[in-house]
Order: sequence, then C-alpha cells, then structure tokens
Amino acid sequence: MKRLIAGLVMTVGMAGLAHAAGNADAGKSKTAVCAACHGADGNSASPTFPKLAGQNEQYLLKQLHDIKSGKRKVLPMTGILDNLSEQDLEDVAAYFSSQTTTIGQADPKQVAIAQPLYRGGDLATGVPACSACHGPRGLGNNPAAFPRLSGQHPEYVALQLKNFRSGERDNDPAMMMRQIAAKLTDAQIEALSNYVSGLH
Ligand code: HEC
Ligand code: HEC
Repeated sequence: MKRLIAGLVMTVGMAGLAHAAGNADAGKSKTAVCAACHGADGNSASPTFPKLAGQNEQYLLKQLHDIKSGKRKVLPMTGILDNLSEQDLEDVAAYFSSQTTTIGQADPKQVAIAQPLYRGGDLATGVPACSACHGPRGLGNNPAAFPRLSGQHPEYVALQLKNFRSGERDNDPAMMMRQIAAKLTDAQIEALSNYVSGLH
C-alpha cells in the first residue's frame, strides 16, 4: 500500500507540475461572482459551500477544470465558469489559494476516535492513513493536487466522503478516494470530518 501511494503521489505530482502558475492579484477581480457563496476571501459563512481560502492551487485548478467540464457535478455553479478562460481559472485558483483559512474547533471526543485513524489508518478494514496524502497537519500536497482539509467545514467534508462512498462524486484520480471512503462507517466519517475542521 505504501509503495502504491508513493507511486500515485509521483504520477499525480508530475501531472500537477505541468500547470502554469496563476496571478493572484489578477484573480481577485474575477471572483466577485464567487463571493456570494464562497465568501470574498474564500472563507464561506455557510457549510453548504466549501472554504476555498488557503486551499492548494493545483487542487483548486483541477476542481475548476472538472466542474467546468461537468466531470464533477456542482449544480449551483452551472454556467458560472463558462466565460472564464484557462488564464482566468489559473488566476482565480491563485487568488483563493493565497488567502488564509479560518480554523474551526474540533470536539475532543471526536478527536479521540479520528486521530488514530487519520494518522495510522485501520489495518482491520484496510483504510490507509489519511495523513499519507493529506499530510499530518491536513495541508495536503500542492504539486500532487491533494487537497488541504485543515479548517474545512465538517458538514462539507462529511458530504464529500459520503459522495465518494456512494460514487456520486467520481472525479478522484485512480479511484483513490472512492476506494477509501467505501471502507468508512458513518461514525468514522462524522469523527474525521469534525477532526480535520480543527486540524492545523
Ligand atoms: C451559487 C453558489 C456558488 C457560486 C456562485 C460559486 N460556487 Fe463554487 N461551489 C458551490 C457549491 C455548493 C460547491 C460544493 C458542491 C459539492 O458539495 O460538491 C462548490 C464547490 C467549488 C469548488 C470545489 C472546492 C473543493 O474543496 O473541492 C471550487 C474550486 C469552487 N466551487 C470554485 C468557485 C469559483 C471560483 C466560483 C466563482 C467563479 C464559484 N465557485 C462560485 C457553490 C457556488
Ligand atoms: C492515496 C492518497 C489519499 C489518501 C490516503 C486519502 N486521500 Fe482524500 N483525497 C485524495 C485526493 C487525490 C483527493 C482529490 C480528488 C479530486 O481530484 O477530486 C482527495 C479528496 C478528499 C476530500 C475532498 C476534499 C474537498 O475539498 O472536496 C476529502 C474530504 C478527503 N479526501 C478526505 C480523506 C480522508 C478522511 C482520508 C483518510 C480516511 C483520506 N482522504 C485519504 C487522496 C487521498
């Protein structure tokens, strides 16, 4: 499993490196339409909308490509990216990535359940450590386009894990997240979601 993950990190990492970097200053003026849902600085007020502030640039850019092409279905964003060029998407990703994420407060009871799973995985059910890809502090891996989880709204994180588990979200490379989420129970999803919202 370790070797498999290392291989994936390499392959995905190389793909990520192929992208050019955007211009955060130019991106700010292109995000007015995003602010209503995601917040002006990318720290959304409502947990329905993911925080984009401080998210890794390559991950943001990949999601923008996937949402624009329909590979990841986000109905509230229908048509919103249609008029944005490749340069615009890169600039927008750079802008939100340059902002600072607000961190939440995890429940100590959930931390007790989630931390061993996050750091060490679950040998019995074959769940790998989340930290192998998302990092011990939840910062992800920018060149590999592995998302930051630190500070994300717990409700949004839980929804994504359930959508990966059901296959409703299927834009993860090599089914990485679908295979992992398939092995998680509802209780583990609740605990992990709460834990990462306060992780930093
Ligand atoms: C009407 C509300 C709305 C607007 C406006 C909107 N979004 Fe979204 N966006 C959403 C929702 C809802 C999701 C999460 C959907 C889900 O649960 O999978 C999302 C997801 C995303 C994601 C994926 C985040 C992640 O962590 O995977 C990115 C990136 C994103 N939006 C960027 C943008 C940008 C850039 C704009 C402006 C150009 C924008 N959005 C405008 C509602 C909106
Ligand atoms: C082998 C690497 C790997 C491991 C291990 C892994 N993930 Fe992921 N995770 C990914 C990748 C890659 C994505 C982004 C998929 C995409 O491109 O849309 C992702 C996406 C996510 C997302 C969606 C983030 C967002 O903003 O929408 C959540 C939540 C998540 N992972 C949680 C976890 C948890 C919890 C664990 C441990 C049980 C875990 N991951 C283990 C690679 C991994």
